[in-house]
Amino acid sequence: MSKYKVQPTGVERFFDENDLIVSKTDLKGRITYTNHVFRAIAGYTGAELDGAPHSLIRHPDMPRCVFKLLWDTIAVGGEVFAYVKNMTKNGDHYWVFAHVTPSYDANGTMVGYHSNRRVPNRRIVDEVIVPIYRQLLDAENKTADRKAGMMAGHALLTGVLKDKGVSYDEFIHTL
Ligand SMILES: Cc1cc2nc3c(=O)[nH]c(=O)nc-3n(C[C@H](O)[C@H](O)[C@H](O)COP(=O)(O)O)c2cc1C
Repeated sequence: MSKYKVQPTGVERFFDENDLIVSKTDLKGRITYTNHVFRAIAGYTGAELDGAPHSLIRHPDMPRCVFKLLWDTIAVGGEVFAYVKNMTKNGDHYWVFAHVTPSYDANGTMVGYHSNRRVPNRRIVDEVIVPIYRQLLDAENKTADRKAGMMAGHALLTGVLKDKGVSYDEFIHTL
């Protein structure tokens, strides 16, 4: 994909079970804070990350509809959990189980977002998430139009959840 300056290497990176990868963003998803675990695994310096769009670490295998769900949820004050495949500076990747929440100032005004990520359950990633994300990505890539593709992925995801009779939250927490 031309959007990516770095091509994926296919090499996976891992972090410690006890570690948390943390970042904060402004309301537009521009990075305002990263912890040392984030910088170590992603391979970027603080200066490179500060002010950069969070999509800097987006991996091309991630379906767009997952990020739509994330943004649709947090923009209205909700919190979301998601399995995410991220890309490092050199094109390696690492899987995380992310929790994303809005942040508020003293007046209760939403001022940005916060994400904590843990090591995901390997079985869930390999057996459930990778196959579903592949299906969603295939649906999205069937059309050249970005928006239409994302909506096709969104429709497929909604359909899968409807068939299972669960909400996205129920689905993600019962894997
Ligand atoms: C707090 C926060 C954390 C995020 N973390 C990630 C992340 O780890 N990886 C990622 O690809 N996108 C993350 N995003 C979503 C990105 O902002 C963006 O929507 C996504 O990378 C898709 O980019 P695109 O719309 O340019 O394709 C995060 C957003 C927020 C608000």
